Amino acid sequence: MNTPNSEIVLPLPDDFHAHLRQGELMPGYVRDLVSQFGRAIIMPNTVPAMTSAAAIADYKKQILEAAAPVRPDFEPLMTFKLNPNYTEQDLKDMMAVGVVAGKYYPAGVTTNSADGISDFEAVFPVVAMMEKLGLVLCVHGEEPGEFCLDREPAFIKRVETLAEKFPKLRIVFEHLSSAKSVEAVKRLPANVAATFTVHHLMMTLDDIVGDALRPHHFCKPLPKRPEDRKAIREAAFSGNPKFFLGTDSAPHQQGKKECPCGAAGVYSAPVAIPLLVQEFERAGALDKLPNFIAGFGADFYGLPRTTKQIKVVKEKWTVPAIVNGVVPLAAGQTLEWKLK
Ligand code: NCD
Ligand code: ZN
Repeated sequence: MNTPNSEIVLPLPDDFHAHLRQGELMPGYVRDLVSQFGRAIIMPNTVPAMTSAAAIADYKKQILEAAAPVRPDFEPLMTFKLNPNYTEQDLKDMMAVGVVAGKYYPAGVTTNSADGISDFEAVFPVVAMMEKLGLVLCVHGEEPGEFCLDREPAFIKRVETLAEKFPKLRIVFEHLSSAKSVEAVKRLPANVAATFTVHHLMMTLDDIVGDALRPHHFCKPLPKRPEDRKAIREAAFSGNPKFFLGTDSAPHQQGKKECPCGAAGVYSAPVAIPLLVQEFERAGALDKLPNFIAGFGADFYGLPRTTKQIKVVKEKWTVPAIVNGVVPLAAGQTLEWKLK
């Protein structure tokens, strides 16, 4: 795989968690994503949220139009925001327009989640329908009202309850940030998997508030202690099929981050794959990268593995200070690997 001229051929990556927003900013965000990914799970926390087949079909069409000049074969994997009000017919209608998963946001824990779930058991009937229809449940696992660093560990019990009550439901515990949740996913049955972001592999809370306030690193769930990052890295580099990439690339315009009440979200789409190659190489785990970016996630979602490829070359480049109005992850830094 690592050829003498330091060129790596990788399967075209899948991103199992991406935010594309809507409106005039969306096409730029789409182009950044599809320059590195052939498929992506598109998050539904738009304003208004994605809750109907008609809205999702329209959103998908707009995404495909924006992707066409860069990657006409891009496949957006659509999602809806979970609430207790869907009928089975609603779910079937959404599946007919390309929905593969529903997203559980606890109320108020992250960007655009004020309309999230406050009564856990109230969504069980809809979750039961999702299990029956073969829809995946993506979970933002943070318990509202807990101290910020404890929110994810406090949510583990809910994932355990879901896994026990709905044994055939595929559950993705997303963007893990704590050693405790990594352990929980390892221990839970095979219907529970997890995603890791690039930034949670790389950062701890020190990178947000340790020396100076770095608003472009601020995201939910918060990156936590060194031992948490260590657990995430070990799991990602281990080749365990329960763990795969979901970047949670979440663009916010510069002014929405550099202000008195800044938005949560890290924009990693423009740099995700070069940074992952760098991290896996430094860990001596490059052989584990293809499955992490383009194998285990597809298997879990029941999608065919991609047959397409991308090339990454060992060539220094400097990440722009700003991309589409957003300060990206690693802005201004020189990276070792570049997408060809
Ligand atoms: C995401 C966003 O900006 O939409 N923000 C974040 O900090 N991760 C929402 C989310 O996935 O939590
Ligand atoms: Zn997200």
